[in-house]
Amino acid sequence: MEKKHLRIESRLAQIGSVEEPVTGAVTFPIYQATAFRHPRLSQSTGFDYSRTKNPTRAVLEEAAAGLEAGDAGFACSSGMAAIQTVFALFGQGDHLIVSLDLYGGTYRLIERVLSRFGVSATYVDTNDLDALEQSRKPNTKAIVIETPTNPLMMVTDLEAVCGWARHHGLISIVDNTLLTPFFQRPIELGADIVVHSATKYLGGHNDVLAGLIVTKGKELSEKIAFLHNSIGSVLSPSDSYQLMRGMKTLALRMERHEYNATTIALFLKEHSAVDEVFYPALPEHPGYEIQQKQSSGNTGIFSFKVKDARYVEPVLRHIKLIAFAESLGGVESLMTYPAVQTHADIPLEIREAVGVDDRLLRFSVGIEHVDDLIADLDAALKAAVAEVEGGAGR
Ligand SMILES: Cc1ncc(COP(=O)(O)O)c(C=O)c1O
Repeated sequence: MEKKHLRIESRLAQIGSVEEPVTGAVTFPIYQATAFRHPRLSQSTGFDYSRTKNPTRAVLEEAAAGLEAGDAGFACSSGMAAIQTVFALFGQGDHLIVSLDLYGGTYRLIERVLSRFGVSATYVDTNDLDALEQSRKPNTKAIVIETPTNPLMMVTDLEAVCGWARHHGLISIVDNTLLTPFFQRPIELGADIVVHSATKYLGGHNDVLAGLIVTKGKELSEKIAFLHNSIGSVLSPSDSYQLMRGMKTLALRMERHEYNATTIALFLKEHSAVDEVFYPALPEHPGYEIQQKQSSGNTGIFSFKVKDARYVEPVLRHIKLIAFAESLGGVESLMTYPAVQTHADIPLEIREAVGVDDRLLRFSVGIEHVDDLIADLDAALKAAVAEVEGGAGR
């Protein structure tokens, strides 16, 4: 059966398992070679030098393109390397429209690196078509969207916004890190380019740093291929293997991440130490309906605000099973304090305007037993309340 006719679970499990024709190995080998013999002058096996194309990386890239319904895939040394490679499409005098709430590292790259190459950006609520229209300039070249956003889980209607962008000749770039192609495929909804921090759910085990780009259309695919090779932001063969190994179990992991996150979000919503939970799986979330329409499931990460900023330090000190650490998307549960960690590079006034304040905690829910996670979190919240208020928690 042709791969494109398989369901996504089958395609994921089979990544790299049918491409090795010599030995029939069911997992694709790691080709560590950086150089490949040329049969004759002006002849090539298709592989010359590993920065340009490596057999192991090529299997991963083809799988990524297929999973995201794109035409070409590019594996990069990190999510930021992927984003920077895409941003290299732009130069002096170009303008970008960017999601107001987004990963702090992307903001830092735009403001502190891209700006030095003469590229400017306006940050807007990408669901507000009037605001988008107002921020569009004659030199606007692209729109950069995260949906849901990290950390506030704002949801953008991709079909509407990518349609608007196409109408105005803008490239739509979507960071699909939080949902992965298992739950959401932005290219099918009109995006031109998808980027990933594959370090997160795709890798899934907090043990490989990687990024992916998937492009739609010949022209963009050729431009990104040129930039990927010219910049050299490529993923190593062994990390390509490691990433494929993680991706094989993506479907199972995402289902468990979603179940655990939904159960815990419902628990926290009723908790007396918690003010608000930001998770698009909850019907009261402003992005709930759009999320239902454009995705087949929910990510395993959400944010919540404790009632008092003084609870944050003791909560982070008292969690035991959940690690206080700065990433997301792995099998192990991690908790992050965005205001001082992932989003520290975003100026205070922007952070506070979008709601990334000193009461916000981000929870990347792993695949542990949900009851153990709830017990750990509940104990930490109760201990924090007791320390701060001098009384019992819940
Ligand atoms: C949504 C999102 N995009 C991009 C990145 C950057 O990826 P990496 O850390 O793999 O460079 C991150 C990292 O946290 C992220 O959360």
